[in-house]
Amino acid sequence: MENQDQIKPSALKNDSRKAVIEIRDLRKSFGDNHVLNGFNMTLREGGNLVIMGKSGSGKSVMIKCVVGLVKPDSGMVKILGKEINNLDRGAMDELRSDIGFLFQGSALYDSMTVRENLEFPMRRHKKKLGVIKDTEPLVLEALENVGLAHTMDLMPSELSGGMKRRVALARTLILKPKVILYDEPTSGLDPITSKEIIELMHSIQKKYGTSSLIITHDVDCARVISERMILLVDGINYAEGTYAELSQSTDPKVEAFFKK
Ligand SMILES: Nc1ncnc2c1ncn2[C@@H]1O[C@H](COP(=O)(O)OP(=O)(O)O)[C@@H](O)[C@H]1O
Ligand SMILES: [Mg+2]
Repeated sequence: MENQDQIKPSALKNDSRKAVIEIRDLRKSFGDNHVLNGFNMTLREGGNLVIMGKSGSGKSVMIKCVVGLVKPDSGMVKILGKEINNLDRGAMDELRSDIGFLFQGSALYDSMTVRENLEFPMRRHKKKLGVIKDTEPLVLEALENVGLAHTMDLMPSELSGGMKRRVALARTLILKPKVILYDEPTSGLDPITSKEIIELMHSIQKKYGTSSLIITHDVDCARVISERMILLVDGINYAEGTYAELSQSTDPKVEAFFKK
């Protein structure tokens, strides 16, 4: 048997795990603003992939193309083996229930309690979950995963920024997604709270075996969480590798990310 410790990071290049998200030659412009110019990536089953890019480099646009919130000009996006271009609305909706999307910011509904926020996706995706008479056990399980069972009947305004982010994560978990997309999960949080969120992301991945796509401009977040990383520069997957590999690069555009 092979010793796991002896497998070099670059051995991941011959990764044979099934692809859960594939993006090929993705292009998107807004007028003269050419945001994505042929972006490629593959997220594999159980893997976690960090996409790092400067602010305004097109990270959110890319992830919105994945969930169908932005329509690409061209290119292919395949999720769980299905090319999303070919899906009608119903099929896309069904696929969405397998994808958890943690938006930039927490995007909780301010006028709803924590419980109601978590019940919301259950109502939207009845097809996946069936009719649930008592939502409380599911809400409770999701909240327990993020250590916030006691906040069930609070309003978002009664929570701190870090707690809101955790509730948003719990809301993502309620549908037991196969893939979770995180858009800047630690932005705007202090270092200690950021660390807590990163630990939660790890524990969720372990517990449910989810695959994660993590978008961040935070080098520390990338270092702690990434299995592989892609640097999004000039609208393309400019460089790709492990944190250890990329942080030693002498390419000026890559070095720029790691300079303190
Ligand atoms: N709906 C939109 N209409 C026009 N321009 C947009 C739209 N969404 C994003 N952009 C532009 O696309 C570029 C990339 O934005 P974004 O993906 O949000 O960057 P980030 O990497 O910080 O997430 C920015 O120049 C932004 O102004
Ligand atoms: Mg963004």
